[in-house]
Amino acid sequence: MGVVFNVENLSFKYPSAKDDTIKGITFDVLEGEIFGLLGPSGAGKSTIQKILIKLLEDYRGSIKYFGKDLKSLDNSFYEEIGVGFEMPVHFSKLTALENMKFFSGFYKKAADIQELMERVGLWEYRDLKVGEFSKGMKVRLNFVRAMLNNPRVLFLDEVTNGLDPKNARIIKDMIAEFRARGGTVFLTTHLMNDVEQLCDRIAFCVNGRLTETSTPRDLKIKYGKREVKVEYMVNGTTTSSTFPLDSIGFNDEFLQLLKTKEIETIHSGETSMEEIFIIVTGVELK
Ligand SMILES: Nc1ncnc2c1ncn2[C@@H]1O[C@H](COP(=O)(O)OP(=O)(O)OP(=O)(O)O)[C@@H](O)[C@H]1O
Ligand SMILES: [Mg+2]
Repeated sequence: MGVVFNVENLSFKYPSAKDDTIKGITFDVLEGEIFGLLGPSGAGKSTIQKILIKLLEDYRGSIKYFGKDLKSLDNSFYEEIGVGFEMPVHFSKLTALENMKFFSGFYKKAADIQELMERVGLWEYRDLKVGEFSKGMKVRLNFVRAMLNNPRVLFLDEVTNGLDPKNARIIKDMIAEFRARGGTVFLTTHLMNDVEQLCDRIAFCVNGRLTETSTPRDLKIKYGKREVKVEYMVNGTTTSSTFPLDSIGFNDEFLQLLKTKEIETIHSGETSMEEIFIIVTGVELK
């Protein structure tokens, strides 16, 4: 698998800030993966995305895009990437379709606008001015905008934020399909559902630093308890017992319970992504 981004020792300071916002981070984004950047508000996620898309150029350290120094790339870089910004930006006095045609005009290759807008349920509203769109409609249009040039790499900053479950599901399906076609996704979020359903690998960003990159599954194993909890009925009330996961198949008490009791639930001690977020970042989710 190729390396899309190789980031080494990246630091960045906003001109108006006293200290570095990004403090020497190193990570790779691999071709064909959905890479999730997680972290509490203000940690630096959007700043990292802005650096990777060449919006903030005054960084220290090294960033390579398919082996080439990011700083050496010309505007053809923008033909290859699609960007979903944190705050949807559209012309509110233009209609949704006019907006998409305008942005599409910047690119040499163009996706089928109608197909994209139909998929996210906006084609029927194509002639409505974006100023009259609801928040969720703007968010969906923002995603269409990111896909307009059939990108090779997709950057999505909180892209399902503010969507109802049905529309969030549509966008997530489209992201997964994009990966299935070989696309690479750099996704920043603090929605743990998105992470579990989409991300192949994730890193936590806390106060401008990154934890090591891991898969959601490995994190669950690392932070989970190696135990099994069984809930069962005793004289009409729910009772529970917990057993160590190691050698569970030889644990007579556990086996006896399965054979003789009316079992209600059995769970291994998996930690939720929410709990992992809190453990790793030390920050409670809102
Ligand atoms: N243009 C700017 N000038 C100065 N400081 C900025 C600027 N933009 C962001 N910051 C600061 O940089 C830090 C990181 O901001 P960033 O937007 O990257 O966080 P984030 O992790 O994306 O947060 P959120 O989850 O709220 O979107 C914050 O302390 C923020 O105040
Ligand atoms: Mg952000």
